[in-house]
Amino acid sequence: MSSAPTFLYGTAWKEDRTAALTELALRTGFRAIDTANQRRHYFESGVGEGLAVAYRAGIVTRAHLFLQTKFTYPRGQDHRLPYDPAARPAVQVAQSLASSLEHLGTDYVDSFVLHGPSSAYDWTDGDSEVWEAMRKERDAGRTHLLGVSNVSLQQLEQMESASSELTAFVQNRCFARLGWDREVRSYCNERKITYQGFSLLTANPKVLQHPPLIALATQMNATPAQIVFSFARAVGMLPLTGTTNADHMKQDLASLDLELPPELVRAIEHMAG
Ligand SMILES: NC(=O)c1ccc[n+]([C@@H]2O[C@H](COP(=O)([O-])OP(=O)(O)OC[C@H]3O[C@@H](n4cnc5c(N)ncnc54)[C@H](OP(=O)(O)O)[C@@H]3O)[C@@H](O)[C@H]2O)c1
Repeated sequence: MSSAPTFLYGTAWKEDRTAALTELALRTGFRAIDTANQRRHYFESGVGEGLAVAYRAGIVTRAHLFLQTKFTYPRGQDHRLPYDPAARPAVQVAQSLASSLEHLGTDYVDSFVLHGPSSAYDWTDGDSEVWEAMRKERDAGRTHLLGVSNVSLQQLEQMESASSELTAFVQNRCFARLGWDREVRSYCNERKITYQGFSLLTANPKVLQHPPLIALATQMNATPAQIVFSFARAVGMLPLTGTTNADHMKQDLASLDLELPPELVRAIEHMAG
């Protein structure tokens, strides 16, 4: 894609609405799509169908899109695996990405993300082997950038010690009560890693119901959800939304134009943790 993405449209949990919602998101103005080759939660070939319709309708071209997919270990999958379960993880990485490219009707993705390390606590040798395989895919041109998801600060530090190459993206669930993932975000900021935040609304219902935030939203002629997305951008995050609602799609994109005063950004950052 020609410029860095500003908002990711997430395609999880949409099942047979995936194609239509992907197309609607593109029609509404999203230019970055997040998916995964994990049939349990994503219908990646449905994303590909939505893209194809959008290309045919002249809404967007491949060159102006940012497409991101993920490699998911077997324990995060159901029986619908996109690779040979008996193959080595490094081979599974290549098979998974080849299948994603087929689903998405493209010969490269913009970003290829490890959906989560193999252990909840550590970055293991197995993860390093997978990361090495992902780097090979990147070197072969099948992805432009690499990312990791669902990682702790400790895992990122272990990953940094184990690999000569840092990730370009971290994609994490962002809880306000953890200072909006403050530790991981500051690790990312220091290393110019782009932090992608998901569940910004669903993980933080108390923030959305916080009376001062609601008052502020009213004052700015915005919705509480827009304030949260605007805040996310102001602190350097690349936010995700997976809304299924046409008005919310417009509102989420419009939140990029809201300017929050710096003292307000600081107040929201320290609101819950
Ligand atoms: N890496 C991972 O492990 C991982 C895990 C989870 C998600 N993700 C990615 O992140 C994407 C987003 O997931 P998410 O967890 O952030 O949740 P989500 O699926 O986007 O759900 C957001 C919720 O907020 C509502 N919403 C959205 N915009 C709104 C607005 N402007 N005003 C009011 N309500 C609004 C939506 O309702 P409506 O549909 O009615 O708008 C929906 O109920 C996923 O699709 C996926 O791509 C990644």
